[in-house]
Amino acid sequence: MDPARLECLARVTKPAHALRKEATALLAGATRIVVLTGAGVSAESGVPTFRGEQGLWRSYRPEELATPDAFHRDPELVWSWYQWRRELIADCAPNAGHDALARLALTRNGVTLVTQNVDGLHHRAARDVASAAGVSDPEPAHPLEVHGAIHRDRCSGCERLTPAAAGSNAGPPSCVMCGSSLRPDVVWFGESLDPDVIGSAQEAAIQADVCLVAGTSSLVYPAAGLPDLTLRSGGAVVEVNLDPTPLTGSATVSIRGQAGEILPEIVGA
Ligand code: OAD
Ligand code: ZN
Repeated sequence: MDPARLECLARVTKPAHALRKEATALLAGATRIVVLTGAGVSAESGVPTFRGEQGLWRSYRPEELATPDAFHRDPELVWSWYQWRRELIADCAPNAGHDALARLALTRNGVTLVTQNVDGLHHRAARDVASAAGVSDPEPAHPLEVHGAIHRDRCSGCERLTPAAAGSNAGPPSCVMCGSSLRPDVVWFGESLDPDVIGSAQEAAIQADVCLVAGTSSLVYPAAGLPDLTLRSGGAVVEVNLDPTPLTGSATVSIRGQAGEILPEIVGA
């Protein structure tokens, strides 16, 4: 058999405790760590993921809701879907996975958190963990939010950012400055990511000894390309996911399991 395939088989057939031990050692020995999270990290908090059995995209077609065209065509529908998601997220709390990553970033230098999630749960974990530990500045545990944040609105005209408008299900409110419609400050299909935010995430991935990737289907680029930047710079990739993904074959260590259970164990925080 091809040696690369043998090596891959050896990796996937290693016992679970050996994989966890290997991941723990890689993370403990790293000087710089970049962490990339996706919707799976918030699943145990009750926030639905995008794909999979319970995924949001199963009941709503993304092209109906998460695109600039959809917002133009039917702003009330798109707005009310986001208001529903905002309410759902407001009732959720960070889980043990968010807390472990916040502790990691607050207790070690050289850790950069990057998230595709717009739910703000990493921020809430940073605040809670910092306050419980008597740390005055939660900032090092604030992630780069490459797909934006649902708790902010952005004016579709002048780009002014404001906290999310509460209550209104009737449709998007108007900007007080220029009268254009407000929209959630999230990245929609077909839109570009903020170049400064994704640029910082890419730089952190290039510099990292270890890229820890948790709860993402690794399908949506450019975020899904971050682990490859670490690998190409000679670093290692540790993946934590319930299921295999397109990243699994190239990951140095890939662990099957719940983020809320595995992350606290392997980050040792
Ligand atoms: P997905 O819904 O595509 O993938 C979630 C992943 O998490 C899947 O691979 C699941 O197997 C895994 N998973 C679910 N529960 C888990 C758990 N408790 N522990 C560990 N893993 C778990 O979500 P993302 O990869 O985040 O973009 O999706 C990427 C982007 O696609 C989103 O940011 C969003 C969407 O389009 C935008 O809105 C721009
Ligand atoms: Zn405006």
